[in-house]
Amino acid sequence: MSHLGIADANSADQPTDSDIFLNDVLHGLRHRPRHLPCKYFYDDRGSKLFDAICELDEYYLTRTELGIMERYAPEMAEVIGPGVMLVEYGSGSSIKSRLLLNSLIEPTAYIPVDISEEHLNQTASGLRSAYPDLEVLPVGADFTEPFALPAPSSPYNQIAVYFPGSTIGNFQPEFAEKLLRQIAALCGQGGGLLIGIDLQKKIPSLEAAYNDSEGVTAEFNLNLLHRINTELGADFDTNQFKHLAHYDVEHHRIEISLSSQCDQTVTVNGEQFLFAKNEEICTEYSHKYTIEGFANIAQEAGFELSKAWTDPDAMFGVLHLNVVR
Ligand code: AVI
Repeated sequence: MSHLGIADANSADQPTDSDIFLNDVLHGLRHRPRHLPCKYFYDDRGSKLFDAICELDEYYLTRTELGIMERYAPEMAEVIGPGVMLVEYGSGSSIKSRLLLNSLIEPTAYIPVDISEEHLNQTASGLRSAYPDLEVLPVGADFTEPFALPAPSSPYNQIAVYFPGSTIGNFQPEFAEKLLRQIAALCGQGGGLLIGIDLQKKIPSLEAAYNDSEGVTAEFNLNLLHRINTELGADFDTNQFKHLAHYDVEHHRIEISLSSQCDQTVTVNGEQFLFAKNEEICTEYSHKYTIEGFANIAQEAGFELSKAWTDPDAMFGVLHLNVVR
């Protein structure tokens, strides 16, 4: 190994997850403005903090999407059609997938895809006991990269991808389009996508959702620095960084960052980073769409909007899109 934690060029070893984490952190901290990838929020503690966020009064997203699923899952099942092979991106807690599975007409197989194998296996075994007639074939993969689907033992009519949670909003629109293109290729002709997106709305509700009064989102954001300290031997003083979240009207997104509370130096893997007072590290974007705006991006990627469902206040949308090329 080199001092950067990168596997030596002449070594046959693949870089480990920890090598990749370190390289991403160093790359993001050297960059101006500084940034860190939001995918690293989700270690054990980060995942628990995110579950706590989903329960907060101010964080309307999860309960609103659940309400839409509870009310409209039978209609969604009708649009998706019978005998489907359902592929879920980021299998999560599977509450939403269960609502969908309860309504689907004779689904052939359910394929949860998640980067965390432990989480995946728990979800898979829970679903196998709840749906004994359904073939559950978990895939441990990073769904932002192309991956192969397992073959179910019985034939299916079409492939549908279920991508709930408005996770697509955490990608920049260009990458969201690329990901949608990959999904269209995975589903193929006759396939479809059921996706949850957070909708544009008045700024105070948006900003409250990411600046909750109990400080859970702040803890979730700061946990990234704790994680870098623990896993990469860095020395961030987490008391000297402050959580910030504001809505950027031009880009239609919540921008989340950590702001340095003083001039300070942080060492990561022997490399020193000088932070000026009020300098920020951007840790996440959460894009908010209109249904039409999202349908336009999806159209570029080879989809056509077939139906959209929202809550009475149009806070959140669940969209079904058909592959058209
Ligand atoms: C996972 N994702 C959809 C969340 C969001 O709302 O963008 C992540 C999150 N970040 C802070 N709070 C929630």
